[in-house]
Amino acid sequence: PVKSEEKFAPSNIALCKYWGKRDKLLNLPINPSLSVSLAHLGTHTCLTPIDHDEDEVWLNGLCLSEDSAFSKRVSLFLDLFRQSKPTHFKVETRNSIPTAAGLASSASGFAALALAVNDSFQLHLDAQQLSVLARLGSGSACRSLFDGFVEWQMGERADGLDSYATPLSETWSGLCIGLVKVDAREKATDSRSGMQRTLETAHLYQSWPIQAAMDIQAIKDAISAHDFEGLGAKAEHNAMSMHATMMASWPPLVYWQPESLMAMQTVWKLRAQGLPVYFTMDAGPNLKLLFERASADDVLAHFPDIEVIHPFGLI
Ligand code: DP6
Repeated sequence: PVKSEEKFAPSNIALCKYWGKRDKLLNLPINPSLSVSLAHLGTHTCLTPIDHDEDEVWLNGLCLSEDSAFSKRVSLFLDLFRQSKPTHFKVETRNSIPTAAGLASSASGFAALALAVNDSFQLHLDAQQLSVLARLGSGSACRSLFDGFVEWQMGERADGLDSYATPLSETWSGLCIGLVKVDAREKATDSRSGMQRTLETAHLYQSWPIQAAMDIQAIKDAISAHDFEGLGAKAEHNAMSMHATMMASWPPLVYWQPESLMAMQTVWKLRAQGLPVYFTMDAGPNLKLLFERASADDVLAHFPDIEVIHPFGLI
């Protein structure tokens, strides 16, 4: 391996969520999912081979301790490529998003790491192979290899080679995502253990894959038809169904905070007044608002502190 170039991968927000694995080791999902990538918000990563007997993982300019959860996951991922004479690396990774705030930094992190590994080991992998590889680091990372709308087909094979993401051809200029930052701290239960708990203890989980299969089709139809209200409604319904399933776990898995519910109530009030704004939420307390450019001023009047992202640029 050689020193890699600095590689970038965008963060992504799922409109139809991945929640639950049929294989924990390979991060193979129980349902297909669909996301939109966040353009310039994501992770930059560079790999430098070093003469140490351990990896050194740097996150946003700070060297992480070897037993931090993130640095362990990075080293395990690098183990997949180390040969008989193991090389260790300085892994420099920089996020332009708050780490572990439910803004999918592990997704962009492992996608950028897969790109850096491909460069450092000169593997010359194609996009599909890179997506499979990134998935081994974190499931949702397989979607962060691409811009725009991205679908992760769950696949059927036991080795996971048919479980990767592909970009959709449709674009949507004027689509806006507003990040409502309720709490940027590390979340209490990471997605990995949260999913497992849901799978093992929530009876409601049985209906989740059925719901997700219907939602992903409806979301794809709404994207093709450029039907914003259809897209927003299905994405919000999908997120609420996932959270209902999480809450039905034992011990209960509640990622919401009082401010999360307050923000939801504001969204519902605005909708009742005729403003087309919807939200989605991942395994954390923050909301991601979905709206179009034409509604941006009205949305910002009620959510003045949000950061607005234009995944496809502006009209
Ligand atoms: C709620 O991809 O972080 O954000 O595969 O265990 O690393 P692992 O989980 P991860 O889970 C993301 C869950 C989600 C929904 C989504 O992004 O689809």
